[in-house]
Amino acid sequence: MTKPAKINIGIPEDKREKIADGLSRLLADSYTLYLMTHNFHWNVTGPMFNTLHAMFMTQYTEQWTALDQIAERIRALGFPAPGTYKEFVKLASIVEVEGQPKAMEMVRHLVTAQEATARTARELFPLVEDANDQPTADLLTQRLDVHEKTAWMLRSLLED
Ligand SMILES: [Fe+2]
Repeated sequence: MTKPAKINIGIPEDKREKIADGLSRLLADSYTLYLMTHNFHWNVTGPMFNTLHAMFMTQYTEQWTALDQIAERIRALGFPAPGTYKEFVKLASIVEVEGQPKAMEMVRHLVTAQEATARTARELFPLVEDANDQPTADLLTQRLDVHEKTAWMLRSLLED
């Protein structure tokens, strides 16, 4: 059988590996945030039900698409993408919420988780710039834009 050709895209293997590790942490946070948002879509109650139920759906639908983009960037860099709950729990910086929080507590948890995901993406930037890895930089920029904007929208719900 012919061996597949080695990856030669102009980024050395050690740098590709470090970027893939960072993207794996971003994937874990993004998945944890996705599940939290979908969970809250199912379980939200109270006078804000309609608004929050619909808002959470918009958010988790966008996040679901992003998971695929992050995982496939890891693959294009030559490394396996994590894809089990066990790995995600180990890699994520977001702590899962237990029980059934009240509606505004859900919003507070989501602000925290959105911001944590933004920090994980941002931490990776110096490495990506140093490696001249534009596709990953582009992906991180898109994720930062979404998470920071969503955190602002959620935070606005908590104000008078
Ligand atoms: Fe639904």
